[in-house]
Amino acid sequence: MGAEFTEMISAFNRMASELDETEHTRKRLLSDLAHEMRTPVATVDGYLEAMLDGVAGADPETLTMLREQTDRLKRLAEDVSLVSFAEEHRLSMETHVISVAELIGVAQGQAHSSYAAKEVTLQIAEDSGGAVLLGDRDRLSQVLTNLLDNALRHTGPGDQVTLRAGSDSATVFLSVEDTGHGVAPEHLPHLFERFYRVDTARDRAHGGSGIGLTIVRSIVEAHDGDVRAESRGPGHGTLFTVELPRHG
Ligand SMILES: Nc1ncnc2c1ncn2[C@@H]1O[C@H](COP(=O)(O)OP(=O)(O)OP(=O)(O)O)[C@@H](O)[C@H]1O
Ligand SMILES: [Mg+2]
Repeated sequence: MGAEFTEMISAFNRMASELDETEHTRKRLLSDLAHEMRTPVATVDGYLEAMLDGVAGADPETLTMLREQTDRLKRLAEDVSLVSFAEEHRLSMETHVISVAELIGVAQGQAHSSYAAKEVTLQIAEDSGGAVLLGDRDRLSQVLTNLLDNALRHTGPGDQVTLRAGSDSATVFLSVEDTGHGVAPEHLPHLFERFYRVDTARDRAHGGSGIGLTIVRSIVEAHDGDVRAESRGPGHGTLFTVELPRHG
C-alpha cells in the first residue's frame, strides 16, 4: 500500500509538471505572437487613419503597403498553426515514396528565379545515388524552400549557395551551405527556436518572423529526422544539414 501510494504521488507530480510545462509554452507562444502581430497591425492602423483623415489617398503604393502587412499577418497565422500542430504531433501528412533527386529538382526550380535576380549562384550537388524517402512531398519541399530562402536572405551578389544531397545505407543527407553572413557561435543553438532572430531589427526588416527554422525542425522531426546548423562565425557562411531515414 505504501509503495503504491508513493508511486501514485510521483505519477501525479510528473503529470502536474508536464501540464505546467505545456502551460508555460502556451503562455510564451501567446506573448511572442502578440509581440509579432503588433508591428503589422500598427502599420495598417496608421495607414488607415491617414486615409480617413484625408492625409493619404488610396493610391497603389499605400494599398500595396497595406496588402504586404496583411499578407504578413496571414503567413504568421499559418506558420504558428503549423508549428503548434507539429508540436502536438497532429501534423497532417500525406505519406508517399519520394525520390531525393526529384525533391532537389523541385526546390531548385522554385528558387531559381529569385536567386538569379539577386545574382547569387545556386549550385546543385545531387549525389543521393537514387535514394528514396518516405514522407510528405510538400512538407519536405518546404524544408528545402525555407533553407534556400534563408540562404538567399543572408547572401549578396557574387555569393554562392550549394544544395547537396547524399546518402549512405540508412540515411539521406540534404544540406544547404552558403558563403554569406554566417552566424556567431552563441546564436547557433537557438536558431530553431520559435521567433528567434539573430538581429531582430535587420531580420524583421526582411519580413522574417523567426519561425521558418522552427517549421523546418518540426517537419524533419515528424519524419524521424534531425537537422543542425553550423557556421565558422560572422562572415564565414552557414551550413544546414538535414538527416532523414532512407527508405530505399
Ligand atoms: N543562412 C543563414 N545565414 C545567416 N543567418 C541565418 C541563416 N538562416 C537563418 N539565419 C538566422 O536565423 C534566424 C532564424 O531563421 P528563421 O528562418 O527561423 O527566421 P526568419 O528567416 O528570420 O523568418 P521567417 O523564416 O519566419 O520568414 C534568422 O532570423 C537569421 O538571423
Ligand atoms: Mg527564414
